[in-house]
Amino acid sequence: MAIPFLSLKALNQPYTAELEAVFHQFLDKGFYMLSDRVKQFEDEFAAFCSAPFCVGVANGLDAIELILQSLELEKGAEVIVPANTYYATILAVLNAGMTPVLVEPDPHTFLLDAETAEKAVTEKTAALLAVNLYGKMCDYDALSALARKYNLKLITDAAQSHGALYKGSTDCPGTDAIAYSFYPTKNLGALSDAGAVITRHEALARNVRARRNYGSEVRYQFDYLGKNSRLSELQAAFLSVKLNHLNRETERRRALAVRYLSEIKNEKLVLPPGETAGEDAWHLFVIRTRRREDLKVHLQNAGIGFDVHYPTPPHRQKALSFLHPLRFPVTEEIHDTVLSIPLNGTLSDRDADHIITTLNQF
Ligand SMILES: Cc1ncc(COP(=O)(O)O)c(C=O)c1O
Repeated sequence: MAIPFLSLKALNQPYTAELEAVFHQFLDKGFYMLSDRVKQFEDEFAAFCSAPFCVGVANGLDAIELILQSLELEKGAEVIVPANTYYATILAVLNAGMTPVLVEPDPHTFLLDAETAEKAVTEKTAALLAVNLYGKMCDYDALSALARKYNLKLITDAAQSHGALYKGSTDCPGTDAIAYSFYPTKNLGALSDAGAVITRHEALARNVRARRNYGSEVRYQFDYLGKNSRLSELQAAFLSVKLNHLNRETERRRALAVRYLSEIKNEKLVLPPGETAGEDAWHLFVIRTRRREDLKVHLQNAGIGFDVHYPTPPHRQKALSFLHPLRFPVTEEIHDTVLSIPLNGTLSDRDADHIITTLNQF
């Protein structure tokens, strides 16, 4: 029995007929850029996120970068980010001309913690950049209170949390803007790169909308130093199809996660926190073990795929050598011990049985 970590082909296979139909409509219509399908998806995704505005962009990295640029914060201002995030979060801050200030995450949830973040606030801090890592919502009550206390912007990197709930709602309360990626492996994945910005501020939405198109609101007039970060019309059409199935897929992820949480029983393995299992989007199910190399061999022998999110923390990356002197023991421990096991809508109950049994035998 072979269970891949994630098969994109299998993930999209149930939607083949619908995807083919929208492709034919797209081809037939002959409008390839920023037309009806982008607008339609933006409206649908804004409603899904319980927010008034959505602007489709080319990818998740650009979504974060465009938010930071559109907020027109001071160049070089500090943005507090969790040290254990994916590299792209920090790269976006740097690309926007700002200074990332890394802080340790909460050791239980792996998310940005308001108390730790507060200790990093200085006169130069302009924003908090929270990351809903692995599909779990941050504590928005605490983070938005902190943002209000110091007059900071609150931004969320939600590349991994489509469909996650916070106190029953898809909204991240108190945030100024939320960045989404629709990279094909994401819970809502396009068939190529794609992304979006969600916001409750009309002016910010307008600014991002202009900047994604070279900084232009009116044809051939350029008001900002923008970039080409347009959401593809075809990908928007595919995303509308897949958005209709997202709640069902998320429910399946939650059901599998609940099974893993209750049935994996092995003292050599640390399971992710389960307090909000019914609200998390479970983009990844990340376990921890000090014997990661042995576990990899054990899973390989059982035909079970896995991945590591992520093997090297950002402050240890070659490109970020100016961060190398920093020490983040919690973050380093996370990167040294995590391993992601398969969890997605294509897994059958038998697949889950095999994964659980194999982990219990380790
Ligand atoms: C947490 C996080 N932030 C940002 C990104 C960047 O998204 P994209 O690959 O669409 O640029 C990703 C996805 O890879 C991610 O997982």
